[in-house]
Amino acid sequence: MIQLIRGFKDILPGEVETWQHIEKIARSLFEDFGFREIRTPIMERTELFARSIGEDTDIVEKEMYTFADRKGDLITLRPEATAAICRSYIQHKMYADDPVKKFYTIGPMFRRERPQKGRYRQFYQINVEILGVSSALADAELIFLLKTLCERLAVKDVEARINSLGCPQCRPGFKTRLQEYIASVSDQLCTDCIRRKDRNPLRVLDCKVPTCREAMTNAPSILACLCDVCDHEFTLLQSALDRLNVPFVLDKRLVRGLDYYTRATFEIQTRSLGAQSAVAGGGRYDALVQLLGGPDIPATGFAIGFDRLAEIVQINRSEQKRKPDLYIAAMGGKSQALAFGWLCELGAKGFYAEIDFQDRSLKSQMKRAGRLEAPFVLMVGENELEKGFAILRNMSTKDQEDVPLDELVESISKRIKSYDDFNK
Ligand code: HAM
Repeated sequence: MIQLIRGFKDILPGEVETWQHIEKIARSLFEDFGFREIRTPIMERTELFARSIGEDTDIVEKEMYTFADRKGDLITLRPEATAAICRSYIQHKMYADDPVKKFYTIGPMFRRERPQKGRYRQFYQINVEILGVSSALADAELIFLLKTLCERLAVKDVEARINSLGCPQCRPGFKTRLQEYIASVSDQLCTDCIRRKDRNPLRVLDCKVPTCREAMTNAPSILACLCDVCDHEFTLLQSALDRLNVPFVLDKRLVRGLDYYTRATFEIQTRSLGAQSAVAGGGRYDALVQLLGGPDIPATGFAIGFDRLAEIVQINRSEQKRKPDLYIAAMGGKSQALAFGWLCELGAKGFYAEIDFQDRSLKSQMKRAGRLEAPFVLMVGENELEKGFAILRNMSTKDQEDVPLDELVESISKRIKSYDDFNK
């Protein structure tokens, strides 16, 4: 038997309804805030991600699915969506009429990480991006959206964590202080941290290796090194969140795993998912559009880990599966052919009918109708065809009535509709 690829997964009926529910709520919320959907390709030139996410990150160093196409061009299955959205924004000069654009996108991403619960090699993200606004109020809007989405999905046990990574004015000063601290604990760090400490010391703050985390406990806080503008923006973010009643925790180690961030970064974390605690992550990336060859346009955004969110959203399982409106128990070839026509006509009218194509006994068909919880069964065999009617049985009252074969679909539709109206 051919099995699926390690780290990839099927989303099966029974589970997919949760995904559809989340997607529906998310789309309507984002659209109420003026976000519009954008869909970019699954593959992009490798250079796009290497330049945006950063050569020294785990994603670019070891997690991308990259290969040469037949002409030898390097292409990569997207590990995230932000870089591609910026590429598209620049390529289509979307800033020309109005630099402020609000996008969302939902789709699969690919990272060759070590698979475990909540961590997959193909996973899905719900991304939301605001381009063209430099104010921290845009960051507050995004965090408010995340909180509201969690509320609408009845997700509890989540916490917003925020930090600021400063800007090109103030970050270098912080990096120097951090490097001095790292030098004092370097004998306790993992080989990845030792390798990265000079080029990208912020990564050391983010390392998940327990000994590194322990060694970095007393590392200096970037919040003490922010320049006046960054400090002002970070204060603005916090007061906006207070006014919006969004609780948050300051987390000086929240540096995120991608290099394009400036100023505010944030994550929504939960204790319900074990080690993979980040349900969503994002922040401001004011330099990315320009880095990719576009104009100097600030931006901010986040991505929700759809798989992780789906794991913590509980929806009533019995409400998930659509039950048939009608089960057609047809006996004999002629009745089956007729019944199949009715099934298609009913389906096109929005009524879900089930049928047994194997011409099994009436008893076993009735059993299946019961299992599927169909409220009505329509029975038709040679006898009924001769007499010109089928028998409709109400499965709860056990009442039966004859339904003439001509205009059968019409009268059955009426019957199902009045049953639905009555049971609303
Ligand atoms: P990220 O933190 O790399 O950010 O990913 C965002 C979210 O995607 C994570 O918090 C997590 O829930 C989910 N995620 C990441 N990797 C996996 C995985 N292997 N399996 C399951 N879920 C995963 C970004 O991707 C940024 N582009 C977010 C952003 C948008 N920043 C600004 N705009």
